[in-house]
Amino acid sequence: MKMLKTSHAAKWILRNTRVSSESLTQSIKLHLITEACPLWMSTPEQCPFPDPYWAFYWPGGQALTKFILENPETVKNYSVLDWGCGCGASSVASAISGAKAILANDIDKNALLATLLNYRLNRISLSNTEFSSRNFVDDAGVEELRKFFKDPEKSLILLGDMFYDSDFASTAFKWLKKLKHLTGARVLVGDPDRHPLAEQQYLDRYETKFTKR
Ligand SMILES: C[S@@+](CC[C@H](N)C(=O)[O-])C[C@H]1O[C@@H](n2cnc3c(N)ncnc32)[C@H](O)[C@@H]1O
Repeated sequence: MKMLKTSHAAKWILRNTRVSSESLTQSIKLHLITEACPLWMSTPEQCPFPDPYWAFYWPGGQALTKFILENPETVKNYSVLDWGCGCGASSVASAISGAKAILANDIDKNALLATLLNYRLNRISLSNTEFSSRNFVDDAGVEELRKFFKDPEKSLILLGDMFYDSDFASTAFKWLKKLKHLTGARVLVGDPDRHPLAEQQYLDRYETKFTKR
């Protein structure tokens, strides 16, 4: 993957994004590529990052983050894995809501940088957040995460818009089942009805509406 040096990447993010709170969670500000940014209409070649998923706040992530802010007891004193954190909004909301420990995880290092910048933007302490670009989707990853999740009663996995690719979603489901079984963690999924398999597996459902301004 093409990477800029961290300091250059941070400057690039700050220069090429806008601070936006136009979302389902208006109390959280995020550095995003918005319609006001030249890159909104750019070709992949014009962007130094191949897939800047972290520069967008995905609908599933918005719904999930809104749920956390409206139900802070869901994360308070929990160890929280924000799997595929992207811009980091769910991690920010977890920190605001009193999570004990947060693991912001994304295989794209620029997503971790964007998450860090979004913590700063919202004046959130970094003291109980770890950042990891490790791909945990294998047996060794499950073992590593078991060390993070110490108390099954207080373990939570967050997934915002992670079922965007159906092959990956099938792999992710198998892995999540194993992780859930071995850690006892609760899993909260923000997903705009993307994956038919998901529908069969949900135990409970919370819906929220989007309106286009
Ligand atoms: C569609 S974005 C969603 C981002 C954020 N959760 C949100 O809702 O705004 C999916 C993110 O998952 C990350 N991702 C993909 N595969 C991953 C994996 N195996 N482990 C961790 N992150 C992954 C991508 O880099 C991307 O940032």
